Amino acid sequence: MKLWGGRFTKATNELVHNFNASISFDQKFYKEDIEGSIAHVTMLAKQGIITDEDKDSIITGLKGILEDIRAGRLEIDGTYEDIHSFVEAHLTERIGEAGKKLHTGRSRNDQVALDMKLYTRKEILEMDVLLKNLLESLLKIMKENTDTIMPGFTHLQKAQPVTLAHHMGAYFEMFKRDRSRLSDIYKRMDYCPLGSGALAGTTYPLDREYTASLLGFTGPALNSMDAVSDRDYLIEFSSAMSIIMMHLSRFCEEITIWNSNEYQFIEIDDSYSTGSSIMPQKKNPDIAELVRGKTGRVYGTLMSLLTTMKGLSLAYNKDMQEDKELVFDAIDTTKGCILLFNGMLDTLVFNKDRMRKSTEGGFTNATDAADYLVNHGVPFRDAHGIIGRLVLYCIDNNKTLSTLSLDEYKEISPVFEADIYNAASMETCIEKRNTTGAPGQKAMQEAITVYEDYLKNN
Ligand code: ARG
Repeated sequence: MKLWGGRFTKATNELVHNFNASISFDQKFYKEDIEGSIAHVTMLAKQGIITDEDKDSIITGLKGILEDIRAGRLEIDGTYEDIHSFVEAHLTERIGEAGKKLHTGRSRNDQVALDMKLYTRKEILEMDVLLKNLLESLLKIMKENTDTIMPGFTHLQKAQPVTLAHHMGAYFEMFKRDRSRLSDIYKRMDYCPLGSGALAGTTYPLDREYTASLLGFTGPALNSMDAVSDRDYLIEFSSAMSIIMMHLSRFCEEITIWNSNEYQFIEIDDSYSTGSSIMPQKKNPDIAELVRGKTGRVYGTLMSLLTTMKGLSLAYNKDMQEDKELVFDAIDTTKGCILLFNGMLDTLVFNKDRMRKSTEGGFTNATDAADYLVNHGVPFRDAHGIIGRLVLYCIDNNKTLSTLSLDEYKEISPVFEADIYNAASMETCIEKRNTTGAPGQKAMQEAITVYEDYLKNN
């Protein structure tokens, strides 16, 4: 059954039907489609546009369809153009004439806009829960590792000592911002398009505030032309998902590096690694690599949607049908990646000794040695030069700042005393850094308290 056969004298070309049809993918929101229809007819009856009797029979019919699809008793038949036609046809088949009144005062344009919004709202909330779980895993690692010293890097070169808690805290901040982006999008998109009709509203005395409240929206969308053609929220959501994926991808890059033979900072749990078909010794970080790889796919959705929307005149255009497959894929991909990543993170074993040893090499305490001189009255620029010469000496003589003798220190600057060893120890490097956001234990403890509160309240 078609929703628009009346003015046509010929059947649709089969290829055209297939090209035009969206049921293969828009069946994903059958539940939201039915939910929207129930709210719509409830409002129609309240406004006296249809009778209570018709409303009751439509709702019973719709609920029956919902239950039957859920239970697998009713299969969504791909010969229909879209999920809207499918539901309406089955409704009429089940309840007769009253079914034909469902679409009073509605167009598929406001209907599909509603369905996609209801679906997206639900998915945003689900994604938020996954992100929250990830933050909980991160916080657990942070709490256990405020004294686990590791090298911090810039340019992927060892730079200064940090702690594992500090490193994990950086990702905590990122995923926390991701959650706040999702919540912003939710608030901005939370206006109901239903009642906008095809583009110009309807002649029926609809109560749009009522439908909006039945569906839990903040209110009705205020311009019917915008309401049927607004896909901003999908672009924003794709952008937020792209950023989430970018964060996961950076993390995965680090996991891949940390997992390499050269680093061995971590051990990925067997249940989250895979092997090689030819090299028996291999245990590969495939999950991390795949999450990193799938990031491009989500970026693709964002680019594609932006491109689809850029030339569209007001109001609805069929191009907009292209939003669904892409966004559905981006949502499934992003949710899957957060879930998998969290599982991998939760079971990671950190090789604390290797991290600590690695921090000792690479002169990660050179800045602190320079600060020592500054604290003894040497101007910073001179101190920088002195430590630079010391480092060169160490490299030539295969030493580190902690294995140099005091005589060797003094040869380069008489300012050095025996307390340089303590001043340049890894522990001191960390402990001296206690300003807000720094890796020192006190500063980290403060951050952890803030994060605990945040997770309790958000
Ligand atoms: N499948 C369409 C979409 O996804 C539904 C809206 C159809 N509207 C129309 N005027 N043909 O956008």
